[in-house]
Amino acid sequence: ALLFDSAADADSHAALVVAGLVRERNSGGQRTVLGLPTGSTPIGVYRELIRLHKEEGLDFSNVVTFNLDEYWPMPAEDRHSYHHFMRETFFDHVNLKPENTHLPPGDVPRRDVDAACAEYEAKIRKAGGIDLQLLGIGRTGHVGFNEPGSPPDGRTRFVTLDPLTRADAAPGFFGEENVPLHAITMGVGTIREAKKVLILALGEHKAPVVRSALEDAPTDRVPATLLNGHPDLTYLLDRGAAAEL
Ligand code: GLP
Repeated sequence: ALLFDSAADADSHAALVVAGLVRERNSGGQRTVLGLPTGSTPIGVYRELIRLHKEEGLDFSNVVTFNLDEYWPMPAEDRHSYHHFMRETFFDHVNLKPENTHLPPGDVPRRDVDAACAEYEAKIRKAGGIDLQLLGIGRTGHVGFNEPGSPPDGRTRFVTLDPLTRADAAPGFFGEENVPLHAITMGVGTIREAKKVLILALGEHKAPVVRSALEDAPTDRVPATLLNGHPDLTYLLDRGAAAEL
């Protein structure tokens, strides 16, 4: 784990790692495949990447993105959707090609969800797999929406959200009763296949789960622990998130 004095320092570091990889692959004429998270945690990283694009010409025209998850049911146009969040927070401010950005679909009927999940996995595979997966961590220990009980080899699938996750999301939905009960998420198995994984955790409210993620033996009760042992996994922490280590 890397410890930073402030959240801003952790954000800059994450952005520099992403930018370094994109530049290296751009100069070799190769595409970069990024796995991207939502939530409040990565907002500073996206802001920094936008700055690098605008001020230093960081070029996203050869970058392909796959987001971890989306609520279900959730129309892409809904302002609570992760589709909307990604456009507002990142996609609309850099030169990513719209056809190169992907999120799980929240608007397919339930009977078509399993096929849509398989299709999402196929698209990731066809893109050559994820080069760098950026992750946040939920207070339940979830990565993406892989809640406690998720299988270590899980793939993109339909899931039910943990009550704590829904409570944490409530302020953005005018109350918990409006937070969707379900989501579509990449699985722990999907995430584990990323060549490089960065987990960003910021703030004291993440200290207990960060301690557990880093110090507990792998257990599906804390899904982030299922990533431990990945050959290129780094936690980026601010002082608050590292307070219980
Ligand atoms: C959300 C997302 C996760 C995210 C987590 C933490 O529900 N599905 O991918 O990492 O919860 O959110 P935050 O960064 O706002 O603490």
